Amino acid sequence: MTPNEIRDTKYERRNRYRRLRASPTLRNLVRETTLTPDDLIQPFFVVEGSNKKEPIASMPGIFRYSPDLLLKAVAAYRKAGGQACLLFGIPNKKDNAASQAYAAAGVVPKAIRQIKKEFPDLLVATDVCLCAYMTHGHCGVVKGGVIDNDLSLPLLARMALAHAAAGADIVAPSDMMDFRVGRIRAGLDKNKFTGVAILSYAVKYASAYYGPFREAADSRPNFGDRKTYQMDPANQREALKEAEQDVTEGADIVMVKPALAYLDVVALLRRRLNVPVAAYNVSGEYSMVKAAAAKNWVDEKAVVLETLTSIKRAGAKIIVSYHAQDALRWLK
Ligand code: PBG
Ligand code: ZN
Repeated sequence: MTPNEIRDTKYERRNRYRRLRASPTLRNLVRETTLTPDDLIQPFFVVEGSNKKEPIASMPGIFRYSPDLLLKAVAAYRKAGGQACLLFGIPNKKDNAASQAYAAAGVVPKAIRQIKKEFPDLLVATDVCLCAYMTHGHCGVVKGGVIDNDLSLPLLARMALAHAAAGADIVAPSDMMDFRVGRIRAGLDKNKFTGVAILSYAVKYASAYYGPFREAADSRPNFGDRKTYQMDPANQREALKEAEQDVTEGADIVMVKPALAYLDVVALLRRRLNVPVAAYNVSGEYSMVKAAAAKNWVDEKAVVLETLTSIKRAGAKIIVSYHAQDALRWLK
């Protein structure tokens, strides 16, 4: 039969897709994608000092904690069923060598040690990037007004090593310098941290959706922008090159960032690579939902669960999201 003949027969009238949507049980039975607590990573911001819990104006519900209060926040996250976190450090002192980024007594190593002492089975991932530690706010070393790729590599490797030495399970480089995954892997292995995994922000776009984060992490560049190292939002095929390169260098997991405007890229990596794919539901994505929800323009719970499910459906097994802790509660 030709397609036209099929269309003309009674078969067309037998295809009632609503049949499988008739009840919650049936919908559960045929559901293709299920979000679970195992999929989620909650980011936390950690500052120096003690007894600090500072709100971030553009990210309602998210705070910057000193290590002591971070421990309390992590305990609540744990209690909600949280299994993995991602730490961002904000140092007291910035300089042009990012010295606090790789200090053994830096704010992130301090936080890792405290968390691991109390919650040894909570998975701890750390962001590895220089921007919050540099006076100029760029993700690498600046020389002669440009961001120098190769001068940045040893610093990034040292930073990852400091996190691993403090007990991090996963290090997550987000700087977008070329070859940093290989350098970080080599540095870890040489120092016997062969078991520490690398989650590479392999495909990170130069995105306006990072706006609220830069307030949170105090990491806005004080000249220029990040377009010479982060990817052009218009490019999809380049994402495959970036991700393949990082896998070759030793990345265990590759991440696409941001998530929502780049779900085609998530789907592409899922099809073409054999490592787990992660997606970062970034600050701007979070803030837009929170702002609309605060005005009762959208149903926050429904929008968040739909969004996270869509990221998983596109192909991300792992989702980093500021909504993670709320989602855990809603998934119960
Ligand atoms: C730092 C870094 C950024 C984010 C994660 N790591 C910001 C940036 O590149 O400017 C963004 C996270 C978010 O927006 O939630 N390299
Ligand atoms: Zn950075």
